Amino acid sequence: MTKFIAKPATVLSGDLKIPGDKSISHRAIMLGSLTSGVTQVHGFLQSEDALSTLRAFTAMGVKIERNGDKVTIHGVGLDGLKQPSTSLNLGNSGTSVRLISGILAAQDFDSELIGDSSLSKRPMNRIINPLRQMGAVIEANNGKLPLKIKGGQKLRGIHYHLPVASAQVKSCLLLAGLYAQGETCIHQPTPTRDHTERLLKGLGYTINIRNNQICLMGGGKLKATQIHVPGDISSAAFFMVAATIAVNADISLIGVNINPTRTGVIDILKMMGANLTLSNRREIGGELLADIHIQSALLKGIHIPKKLIPLTIDEFPVVFIAAACAQGETVLTGAKELRVKESDRIQAMADGLNILGIKNEVLEDGIKIRGGELQKPRGVIHSHYDHRIAMAFAVASVRCKHAIEISKVDNIATSFPNFALLANSIGMKITQF
Ligand code: S3P
Repeated sequence: MTKFIAKPATVLSGDLKIPGDKSISHRAIMLGSLTSGVTQVHGFLQSEDALSTLRAFTAMGVKIERNGDKVTIHGVGLDGLKQPSTSLNLGNSGTSVRLISGILAAQDFDSELIGDSSLSKRPMNRIINPLRQMGAVIEANNGKLPLKIKGGQKLRGIHYHLPVASAQVKSCLLLAGLYAQGETCIHQPTPTRDHTERLLKGLGYTINIRNNQICLMGGGKLKATQIHVPGDISSAAFFMVAATIAVNADISLIGVNINPTRTGVIDILKMMGANLTLSNRREIGGELLADIHIQSALLKGIHIPKKLIPLTIDEFPVVFIAAACAQGETVLTGAKELRVKESDRIQAMADGLNILGIKNEVLEDGIKIRGGELQKPRGVIHSHYDHRIAMAFAVASVRCKHAIEISKVDNIATSFPNFALLANSIGMKITQF
């Protein structure tokens, strides 16, 4: 296991091209595999999570060629997947397990899904219960991995109200709905990322979206096409915060996805006083992109509006670093979901903030953070094997007068393998040992 030593850095400058969006990269492989033609993916994220999805579809008989971030998928059609010869290991990737389960529930072969120790602790009943309502036969270990999915079931469409605002659950059920008899309608309590819906439309599938309800009929076909993956706003967020809290920063992030179901981090940082402007807005393949220019700013603490929580979800670790550098208190409530991500992100962040001398109060469903000066670290910060915790604390180094040591950072490869390289190219000082 490797660690980061992140040394103080006060000046950040330059332009960064942000690597491809993780959520869209997963979906491009899954849906491309289910078309009956050749799908070209441009800008595929070459990270462990996205590769877990790619390997799973290869194991199910799909021919997929990859040349860097260009991927060619020889789709096998909705009914062309083959039984994998072993369990599908999805590593650290919750998105892979939850979305692929929707597809596997409808195949005529049995399958088993496994993952690493973090993924094996994450809740799966949120997909198992509605999939069972659709007619799927799934065995789990107390709602956790491994999942054993029995083939040969005929699924039927359901109308389902998501108990938690989750794009993974919504997408899982929409994918199962492609195979179901009749109509599948998913009602979400508030908007969540809608990449599955956009991609389905892009591949010629009829899907009806009204208010917060998404419906489709089973039995259609997906048409192969070109898929362009924009830069991941979840990766861009680390640099938005780094440049905002740095003493002297002027950076631009190029080609970032600004899909309105993902831009909570921009709204929150602007509410806190960030100096962040969007330009060169454009659309590629049904997704919106922009370049984002960020300069240093003095931040103030805020109460984070609840409606922004699902639109920010993965960015909270680094938003907490912004809060730690803001004047006054930042309060987040209603965000219990953060406790069941790759780590318990409320506790993991609170532990790291304590090491940096930042006062905070852990709540059952959130956190209160009192901004202040980052102190000499009272020990090593534990990443809890969570990529976003590791990167968030690396970002804190631009405001700390002392080096920050972060342990067990290997998992950064799950979402952003070249994070340190890009960070150092704009002036951060991260060394990996
Ligand atoms: C994702 C949805 C979110 C997010 C995850 C990726 C997706 O999870 O946290 O990293 O690609 O659909 P939830 O749907 O569980 O909130």
